[in-house]
This record gives sequence, C-alpha cells and structure tokens, in this order.
Amino acid sequence: MSEVAIQAERLGKRYRLGESTGGAFSYKSLRESLTAGLRRIASRESGAAPAEVWALRNVSFEIPRGEVVGIIGPNGAGKSTLLKLLSRITRPTEGRARIFGRVGSLLEVGTGFHPELTGRENVYLNGAILGMLRSEIDSRFDEIVAFAEVERFLDTPVKRYSSGMYMRLAFAVAAHLEPEILLVDEVLAVGDAAFQKKCLGKMDEVARGGRTVLFVSHNMNAVQDLCSRAMLLREGGIKRYDTDVRGVTRDYLFGDGEAPAGQRWINPGTLHDNPYFKPMRFEVVDQEGRPVAMPMRNDTEAWIEIEAEVRSVDPALTVGYAIYAEHGDLLYWSYQTDVEERQWPEIGTGRTTLRSRIPPRWLNEGRYRIELIGGLHFRSWLFEPSVSAPSIFLTIQGGLSDSPYWMQRRPGLLAPTLPWEKS
Ligand SMILES: Nc1ncnc2c1ncn2[C@@H]1O[C@H](COP(=O)(O)OP(=O)(O)OP(=O)(O)O)[C@@H](O)[C@H]1O
Ligand SMILES: [Mg+2]
Repeated sequence: MSEVAIQAERLGKRYRLGESTGGAFSYKSLRESLTAGLRRIASRESGAAPAEVWALRNVSFEIPRGEVVGIIGPNGAGKSTLLKLLSRITRPTEGRARIFGRVGSLLEVGTGFHPELTGRENVYLNGAILGMLRSEIDSRFDEIVAFAEVERFLDTPVKRYSSGMYMRLAFAVAAHLEPEILLVDEVLAVGDAAFQKKCLGKMDEVARGGRTVLFVSHNMNAVQDLCSRAMLLREGGIKRYDTDVRGVTRDYLFGDGEAPAGQRWINPGTLHDNPYFKPMRFEVVDQEGRPVAMPMRNDTEAWIEIEAEVRSVDPALTVGYAIYAEHGDLLYWSYQTDVEERQWPEIGTGRTTLRSRIPPRWLNEGRYRIELIGGLHFRSWLFEPSVSAPSIFLTIQGGLSDSPYWMQRRPGLLAPTLPWEKS
C-alpha cells in the first residue's frame, strides 16, 4: 500500500456572493466578483435568488505520496478553491481534508507574501510559516535568490516588484523550502517562456525527490508532460480523476459529452485586448465564409477565419493557428508570415479578417482542436498557445478517399491523398 499524502472526504465549500476575496493583488478577485455579480443578475432574472454558491461540493479523493497531480477544468470549476482548502487558507463548509506532510503553496499571485516587506524578509517569513529553522532558510537562501533572478531587488519591498518578479520569487520560495507537498496554482501564466520552463523543471525535480505536487493549470501540454495523474473538475465536482492523464485532458478539451464545443469563438468584448490585433471572431467556415456543417467530410475544404480589430500596426505581428489532434498532439502551426514577405496579407488599422485554407484530404477522420496563436515576433505573445488562446473545434467524418480500398479512417494523425506514379 502506498502512503497517502492527501485525503479529502466529501469536501465542500460554500461562498456567499458578494463576499470579498481580499488579497493584495486583486485582479483575480475582481474577475471573481464580476462573475458573481453577473450570476446574481442572471438569477434575479430567472426569479430565484440564491445568495450563495457551492464552489466545491462532495469532493472525495486520495493522493498517494510522490504523485504529481494536474488539476484542470474550466473557469470557476473550483480548482483554486480546492487548493485553498488544502492549504488551509479557507475552511471547508462541509467534509474534511487530511494532509500528511508539510505544505508549501503558491496559490495566486500574492498569497503568502507581505507587500510591505522586502524580498529578503518575505523569504524568511515564508520559511518560518513552513516551520523551518533560520539556519535551514539561510542554507537555501542564495539558491532561492539565484533561481528567482531578483538579486538586485532583494531589499526592495515586494509591492514595488513587477508581477513577473513577484511570481518568480514566490515560486522560488515555494519550491526551494522543501515542502513535502507543493501546491501550485497557475504560476505558469506569469513570467516569460524561459522562466516557465525553469518552473516546470523545478516541479519535475521536486516530484522526482518523492514529494507530492498538485498543479492547477490551463496548460495541457505542461500537465501531460509533468503529471502522473489528472483531476478534471467541473462545477465544483470531480468529473474524472485518473492516471490516464491524456485521457483526462482530452475529456476536458473535447468535452466529456456535457459541454459541446463549438466551431466559432466570439470575443465577449473584453478578452485579449491589445492595440495590435484584438481577436473578435475565430471560426471554421467554408469557401464562401459560411459556417461549415459538422462533421464535415474530408474532401471539403475548410477555411480558418480570424477577424480582429487593429488600432496600431506593428510589423512584427504574427498570427495564425495551432491545430491539435484528439489526444492533444500538435499537428502544426500556421502563420500569416510563413511565406515570403510580399505575399503577407496587408494588415491596416480597423477591422481586418484573415483567412487560411485547410486543404481537403489532408487531415484524418476525427476531432481537432484549433487554437488561435499570435504575438509580436521575438517580443511577446498576444495570445499564447495552450495558455490563454481561444480554441475552436473541427470534426471530420467520411470523404477520405476516392479509392475503393480506403473509405475508412486511416491509421495515423494525417490522411493525405498524395499522387503516385511509375518512374
Ligand atoms: N471568495 C469568494 N466569494 C464568492 N465566490 C467565490 C469566492 N471564491 C470563489 N468563488 C466562486 O467559486 C467558484 C469556484 O471558483 P474557483 O476560483 O475555485 O474556480 P477556478 O476553477 O480556480 O477557476 P479559474 O480557472 O478561473 O481560476 C466560482 O463560481 C467563483 O466565482
Ligand atoms: Mg483559479
């Protein structure tokens, strides 16, 4: 029998709407209160007036020591709430969680750090909270600072840090102070690509050292690479908890029968706001720009259309899409700047619609996820693949080939029909 690190029994958390979430950095709380507010309006319209919401309910599971568990699910599913309960930041309304080991946690940007204290003081404060001796912290101090790359700002109050610096230090502290159980919520959304890679590497190292990691993320590639188990949460309940990590991520991305995923994404107005290319619509259409009936046959051509609002033209703008097969394998990226420069579609200010053709008989029968990707080349992402980018879906059935032999789905990720001749 393997040792258990965490055991949850019928865990539940009910929030009263309108309750403040607190916290020094409150962009998250702001979004949460907006959501709560909208719900209240919606419920008033429907006649009912529930003043409370179950963020998590009836959640039971066991996590053996040494496992890396990816926690995934849509916004508002209860992922952060679960970590907050496990780290004792909030108390459960019902049920209980038993934790066997010392917990280090990195929940949202800010929790656990005192804004008025300097970077140096916060490292010691967090070590003390974790129950470490001063000499133990001393011995890890240089390593933490080097990892976080904040040497120059050690004696600056952390409230003056950029969110990236703040996050780097917070992650370094959580990962280096040798907790037996490490809880990490969405760190990878902050920080540049190089630091994200470092974090993933560090979590892997922590896990290899036999410690337990719970990792909330919207980055399915990271979850697949890193985790030995995955838990899918939806509407406050566990939909699936399994060692088949790819299976769980597939259930999430492609819907588990409950959330039919669409072929069109429309910006509600507030997302991905930026001056260079604010996506307004992202859609699979036919040659004439009409919605394609799904599933589509493999011998029809599909077009990916991206409509955007441009306030400022930047020559480094690269936008396109990434396409993934059903199990999450990336098939390819396509950018409007892939061809020689004079062929790039001209992008001016105002509304622009770009489109690109997916050739017929190129993909295979199955379901594909298409993600909008884009950024300023070599500078920054505007919408980052597997992190913040919107997704749409394409389903193909039939029309695979004109050959009498090959009417069925073929083995492999792609099923192109290519010419053959006798030489
Ligand atoms: N302090 C709070 N007061 C009221 N409602 C809350 C509070 N914290 C969370 N909620 C609500 O509980 C539900 C679950 O929230 P939670 O933050 O756990 O979701 P999440 O899965 O982490 O989402 P995301 O992917 O957006 O981070 C949401 O409906 C949220 O609005
Ligand atoms: Mg969350």
